[in-house]
Amino acid sequence: MTPASNLSSAAAAASAAPAPAASALAAAPALSVRDLRKTYDNRVEALKGVSLDVVPGDFFALLGPNGAGKSTLIGIVSSLVNLSAGSVSIFGVDLARHRDAAMRLIGLVPQELNFNMFEKPLDILVNYAGFYGVPRELALQRAEVELKRAHLWEKANMMSRTLSGGMKRRLMIARAMMTQPRLLILDEPTAGVDIEIRRGMWKTLKEINAAGTTIILTTHYLEEAESLCRNLAIIDRGRIVEQGPMKALLAKLDVEGFLLDIDGQLPATLPLIEGTTLLAADDHTLDIEMPRAMDLNRVFAVLGEAGIRVRSMRTKSNRLEELFVRLTGENAQDSTAQAPPEPVA
Ligand SMILES: Nc1ncnc2c1ncn2[C@@H]1O[C@H](COP(=O)(O)OP(=O)(O)OP(=O)(O)O)[C@@H](O)[C@H]1O
Ligand SMILES: [Mg+2]
Repeated sequence: MTPASNLSSAAAAASAAPAPAASALAAAPALSVRDLRKTYDNRVEALKGVSLDVVPGDFFALLGPNGAGKSTLIGIVSSLVNLSAGSVSIFGVDLARHRDAAMRLIGLVPQELNFNMFEKPLDILVNYAGFYGVPRELALQRAEVELKRAHLWEKANMMSRTLSGGMKRRLMIARAMMTQPRLLILDEPTAGVDIEIRRGMWKTLKEINAAGTTIILTTHYLEEAESLCRNLAIIDRGRIVEQGPMKALLAKLDVEGFLLDIDGQLPATLPLIEGTTLLAADDHTLDIEMPRAMDLNRVFAVLGEAGIRVRSMRTKSNRLEELFVRLTGENAQDSTAQAPPEPVA
C-alpha cells in the first residue's frame, strides 16, 4: 500500500466528521501541535502551551531534561494521554475529530519494552498488524521485510526473551513499522543500549527515514540527535525553549570552548587575551572560551610569550550539548522537583 492510499483509506475510515480536503492534506505538516497543555490529575502542569510543526520527511529530535514533558507530548500525539487544551493534527488529520484515522498514520516505539517475551518475533509482528486490520497474508509478507531490515530474520521463530537487549529494541521498531506508518515516533529508543547497538539502530532509522517515513525521536544522547536529525525542539519544564534546523541552532553558538594540556606547571598569573575567558582547570590544564571567529594562532602566540607551552587541545564539549546546557542549565536537575504549579482553569 502506498503512503497516499494508506492516508486516503485512513481518512475515509473516519466517517464521524467530513474528511479534510486532499489538497489540504498534501500540504499539511506531518505533525502540527498548537498551544498544547496538559495538567495531570495530581496538578502537575506537564505541558504549558507547546506549539510545533514537523515537516513531512523530516528527522526531528525532541530534546529536554528529565521531566520536561517529552513523553507527555508523545503520549498525547499517540492518543495514550488525554490533552487538557490545544490541538494536534497528523498529516492534516485532526486528532480530536478523526482519532482512528490519525492513529493509523502513526507508529509508536514506546520507551519501555512492551511485547510478550514468550511470543516469537514473527508472531508479535503479525498479531500486531492483525490488531490494526492488516490481513494475515499481507502481514506475513511485511513481517519478513521488517524482520530482515531489523536483522532479526534468523530469530523470527525463537522465543523473544532469548533475544539480546539490542535485538529487543530493534524488534520494537520492526513492530511499529508493520502498519507502514507515515510518522514513526520513538521515545528514547536507544536508552541504555551500548554505542555499537545504538549505531546499528541509527542506520536502521536512517534507512526508514530515507524511504519516506517521517521520524520524531526523543533522546538524551545529544550525539544521536546531532548525527541523525535535521530539525529539533528543546523542551524544558513544559515549554519549548528553542526550535529550528539543527545547523541554524548550532551556528547560533558563537562561543567555543577548549581544554589545553600544558607542558609543566601553569604560572600563578595567567596572561590576558582580549575577547577570551581563560581559567586554570587544574595545574596542567587551561580552560579557554573564545569567539568562534577568533584566530587560534593569536591565542598560541600570547601563551607562548607567557612561557606556556600547549601540548595538546580538545574541544570542551559537543556543541549541541553546550546549547542544551545553556538553555536548560539552571534546570539540569530533575524538573519534577519544581514546586507544584498552579492548576490550569
Ligand atoms: N501519569 C502521570 N501522572 C502525573 N504526573 C505525571 C504523569 N506522567 C508524567 N507526569 C509528570 O509530568 C512531568 C513531565 O513528565 P514526562 O514523562 O512527560 O517527562 P519527560 O520529558 O518524558 O522526562 P524523561 O526524560 O525523564 O522521560 C513530570 O513532572 C512528571 O512527573
Ligand atoms: Mg520520557
